[in-house]
Amino acid sequence: MLIKNYKFDVDKEKITDKSLYKKRREILKFMGIAGSITAFPNILSANDKYKLKTITPKEKATTYNNFYEFGLNKSDPAKNAHTLKTRPWQIKITGEVDKEIILDIDTILKEMPIIERAYRLRCVEAWSMNIPWRGFELNKLLNKVKINSAAKFVQFKTKYAPDEMIGQKNPYIGGFIQYPYIEGLRLDEAMNPLTLLANGMYGEDLPNQNGAPLRLVVPWKYGFKSIKSIVEIKLTKEMPKSTWMQLQSDEYGFYANVNPNVDHPRWSQAEERFIGGGFFSFGKVKTLMFNGYEEEVAHMYSGMDLVKNF
Ligand code: MTE
Repeated sequence: MLIKNYKFDVDKEKITDKSLYKKRREILKFMGIAGSITAFPNILSANDKYKLKTITPKEKATTYNNFYEFGLNKSDPAKNAHTLKTRPWQIKITGEVDKEIILDIDTILKEMPIIERAYRLRCVEAWSMNIPWRGFELNKLLNKVKINSAAKFVQFKTKYAPDEMIGQKNPYIGGFIQYPYIEGLRLDEAMNPLTLLANGMYGEDLPNQNGAPLRLVVPWKYGFKSIKSIVEIKLTKEMPKSTWMQLQSDEYGFYANVNPNVDHPRWSQAEERFIGGGFFSFGKVKTLMFNGYEEEVAHMYSGMDLVKNF
């Protein structure tokens, strides 16, 4: 399936906000060319640039998951995540801010400018997908609070509810991980326009197994940074210790930028298995620096040793 309905959106001034997108569809429909690939040259050139021709089928993106709170096998989250209650749901913004706030998810979703973007998702296990997300830029939410100048990092926390998340209750299912799942970004990474909080995918609300009601999406980093079902966003002075750093700091670094030249001890990162559909399923493709988003993010790491800071 060629990407027609979702712009591969790294082109800042052309960000497809929902109303704009609808309007464009209406105009194209009127002209009788809606859906025609030639009507979206910007999409094709972006796809060519990133060698992306397909969107991963929804069935695969929603049944091949990592969400250890619901089990260690890829098929477990789709089977077990229905027990997660996603309403009512509140998100706290805490730490180095002028005033901590607690927001209801539905208020957030009403206030934030919702956009749709297709992004590559690259797992450290050397598989990848291309997923059309719906959500908003994290910086838009962080701008609701006054961040103290001492803040240098942002820590994210997943809901802790062992009665709803079987892997948090049973370590044999949840892999003896110390829950809640924690992740972190440097403040400038969090503020980068590519960093999204997603509440939907494939034009629908996020399924629980993909991190409902709100998850992080950081497309130039390995997928484990994209923490699911977030309840707290904390501005911190110190670099947060993520779940994976706590588990195995020699294998999982804080930055986790996709980098074909720095191998994980168990997985070469030079290539990846792209999970597509039909003819494109499971094609091997070369991994791109910063997952193909070098132009947008490399400036944040200039002068930094990316081998040491893996
Ligand atoms: N978030 C939480 N809370 N728990 C997890 O186990 N797994 C991470 C990340 N976010 C995980 C998580 C990993 S390893 C990956 S690759 C992505 O979610 C997978 O996202 P997906 O299942 O939507 O493809």
